[in-house]
Amino acid sequence: MASPHGGAKREIWGSKFAFVLAAAGSAVGLGNIWRFPTTVGENGGAAFVVIYLLCVLVVGLPVMLCELILGRRSKRNPVGAFEHVAPGSPWKAVGGVGVVTGLAILSYYSVVAGWTLGYVYKIVAGHFSGETDPEAVAGQFGDFVSSPLAVIVCTTLFMGLTVTVVAGGVRSGIERWTKILMPLLFFMLVLLVLRSVTLEGASEGLRFYLEPDLSQITLSTVIAALGQAFFSLSLGMGAIITYGSYISKKDDLVSAGIMVLIADTTVALMAGFAIFPALFTVEGLEPTAGAGLIFVVLPNVFNQIPLGMLFGALFFGLLCIAALTSTVSLLEVVAAYLIDERKWSRLKATTLTGLFCLVLAIPSALSTGASSTLSALYRAEGGSKGFLDLMDLVFGNVLLVVGGMLIAVFVGWRMGLGEARKELEEGRGRFSLFSLWAVLVKYVCPLALLALLAQFVITTIRSLG
Ligand code: PHE
Repeated sequence: MASPHGGAKREIWGSKFAFVLAAAGSAVGLGNIWRFPTTVGENGGAAFVVIYLLCVLVVGLPVMLCELILGRRSKRNPVGAFEHVAPGSPWKAVGGVGVVTGLAILSYYSVVAGWTLGYVYKIVAGHFSGETDPEAVAGQFGDFVSSPLAVIVCTTLFMGLTVTVVAGGVRSGIERWTKILMPLLFFMLVLLVLRSVTLEGASEGLRFYLEPDLSQITLSTVIAALGQAFFSLSLGMGAIITYGSYISKKDDLVSAGIMVLIADTTVALMAGFAIFPALFTVEGLEPTAGAGLIFVVLPNVFNQIPLGMLFGALFFGLLCIAALTSTVSLLEVVAAYLIDERKWSRLKATTLTGLFCLVLAIPSALSTGASSTLSALYRAEGGSKGFLDLMDLVFGNVLLVVGGMLIAVFVGWRMGLGEARKELEEGRGRFSLFSLWAVLVKYVCPLALLALLAQFVITTIRSLG
């Protein structure tokens, strides 16, 4: 990977399509297949889905374009990008928070990714074969995630995979892998959806997922939907700034952003179609099962269908692939910062960051049963929550929303919409919806996000006191 300084040429993606694949790889991950159904289930189903889609369109897409503009304009990591546009100002701290958020998300994300890796093994090894009692399946999940050794080994393996890919560099590592893995992922998901919606009794789940009951919507639903939109689209912490920094000036940012958004939203919606119809066909299972939802639900389902174990292994294999292309982008943010700003070599940056994250992952790994203290830190709707849940709430939800808000303020007010427009129209020509985008970035996103965050802080403080 060439340094952007000192006249050396910085790497760029082979084509716009390569960027779209890589960014879609970043966006599509556990966020779509694990976190989306979990959050839909906890927040009452279809009404949440409606709010989520609104958040994606009204806030997600405008902020996505802001990040692409910042990335390509500066050709730098998130810290360097703010510094490039507003030299010497405190704005680079927003990039810094992004890098830290990336580290934090990578730590607990790798734990859940490790579970999926463990599940591929468990299914192939026949741990679920012939197990028809849903409680026994749930018990297996509990036993697995509360075994410190199993979880730490799986997390370490997964982190090792991530480091290996990112150490290879942008073109040879990330680009080559995602080109193969993304289409494979999509194909497997289509198969799963077809199976799930044709199960007998699928209609109840479809109703839960598709018939909105708008009276279910509360402040916490909206915050959850917003956080989910940012998390799922990889926004608010600089992943899209970083990937955008490798886009050529000849490519069209707007259509690239829209394609990433469509890919991400399609996969999330499909994951819902794969999971909810199946969920409601198994007695005793509730959509509010929390972080274990898919791990508890699916083995039961696979047991009830022909070739179920094959489907099961495919599904968790799919989830590993999706998670890997996302962790790669999380690590790339931190690596790009260390390489650009601290002049580290790519190998040093990736291995040391990987090791650091592994240590940071330990409390999360122990917070699903292994340590009773870490597993029950606070109470929330749906029961007691542990360290992993806390990390996800703080970094995967609140800080992404804060980051997204500041990115919109920065582009709308500090960089200036004239500058932004130049970058946006480079490689495409006139952007006819520019004025709409400008209003969203300058007023709607900052104000809406600020109001929601303020409300959230107030209710959290009240609930503590
Ligand atoms: N978008 C990824 C997913 O849905 C997670 C992620 C979040 C990746 C933030 C990068 C940055 O799984």
